[in-house]
Amino acid sequence: MTSLLLTLCAELVTNDPGLGDGSPLGVLSDAAVVVENGQVAWVGSRTNAPAADSVVDLAGRAVIPGFVDSHSHLVFAGDRAAEFTARMGGQPYAAGGIRSTVAATRAAGDELLAANLARLVTEMTRQGTTTVEVKSGYGLTVTDEARCLALARQLTQETTYLGAHVVPDEYADDPAGYVDLVTGPMLDACAPYARWMDVFCEQGAFDVDAARAVLVAGRAAGLMPRIHANQLGPGPGVQLACELGAASADHCTYLCDADVDALASSAVVATLLPGVEFSTRSPYPDARRLLAAGVTVALATDCNPGSCYTTSIPLCIALAVREMAMTPAEALWSATMGGARALLRDDIGRLGVGSRADFAVLDAPSYVHLAYRPGVPLVHAVWRAGHRVV
Ligand code: NIG
Ligand code: FE
Repeated sequence: MTSLLLTLCAELVTNDPGLGDGSPLGVLSDAAVVVENGQVAWVGSRTNAPAADSVVDLAGRAVIPGFVDSHSHLVFAGDRAAEFTARMGGQPYAAGGIRSTVAATRAAGDELLAANLARLVTEMTRQGTTTVEVKSGYGLTVTDEARCLALARQLTQETTYLGAHVVPDEYADDPAGYVDLVTGPMLDACAPYARWMDVFCEQGAFDVDAARAVLVAGRAAGLMPRIHANQLGPGPGVQLACELGAASADHCTYLCDADVDALASSAVVATLLPGVEFSTRSPYPDARRLLAAGVTVALATDCNPGSCYTTSIPLCIALAVREMAMTPAEALWSATMGGARALLRDDIGRLGVGSRADFAVLDAPSYVHLAYRPGVPLVHAVWRAGHRVV
């Protein structure tokens, strides 16, 4: 077993409050990290670092845990640039645009979908993401949902069946029949390729009873629940997430006090997706209200061709800091540990002995530069499970 020592880190973010400065980020200065067998074997001060088989000198750069992007929709064909242009001219975002991507995705062959997916995952990796959750939701037939999930499964274990994204045109007169399909034959075909089940609980998509039926059926098939909740207006999604013990309620843009209270007294993570508000010119979620109530907050991209076509967690961090008043430390924590919590993972999102050796090296002396230098490609190198991938 060979070991690798990365040394001369100006700053090492561990997300272990027992280390370094004692903050939730557990920041060590002038630090080193040893990687062995794909895992972190040691972290500490550079001057105490043990010997290793090989050494990489990071020359005063910052090292952070790889980003955990816990919400994306990467299996699709085509784009919706014209819809974006119309929106920037004043049109509102509506759930219906999903159907045009469904038509393009159904018409695309596996090779094209796989190439698009691989391109987007590569973009993410280059920007420091080492774990990504990928949803289906642009197939909406038994065959198309299953093939989208099978493609996603080739790139990540964190796959989510989102047959309940929107009711497709052919079921416009029979939405209950579509829920039967999603919870019956489509679920049977998709469950082998998915870890999670999701539903878009929103006006124009699925109401609370349909959403509950979908997630309960998914759970019976071994898929854990997560929910698109309270994105376009107030609604019952967050309460349903808490009722069902979902891992995460995603978007959380329009919350009432009872929603915040319910999140605070549950283990449900509130996943905020500020790239969506940026790209739809909508009000941002109130991150401070959630944090003040003690809710665990994750940050993710929601990368999809409609509401937010970015693969960049650094952009989301900058938006969270500038537009949602999160501190740079809170934003980084939410994009790493927060994402890991939203995926119920404890092996990622942190850099401590036994964690997976997933990290990004920044061309900057501090993680603060992620928000301080928006739009600048600061990721110098990325390691995943101990292997350098960028
Ligand atoms: O998370 N809200 C539902 N799904 C995506 C948007 C999908 C689309 O517009 O194509 C979202 O924003
Ligand atoms: Fe989404």
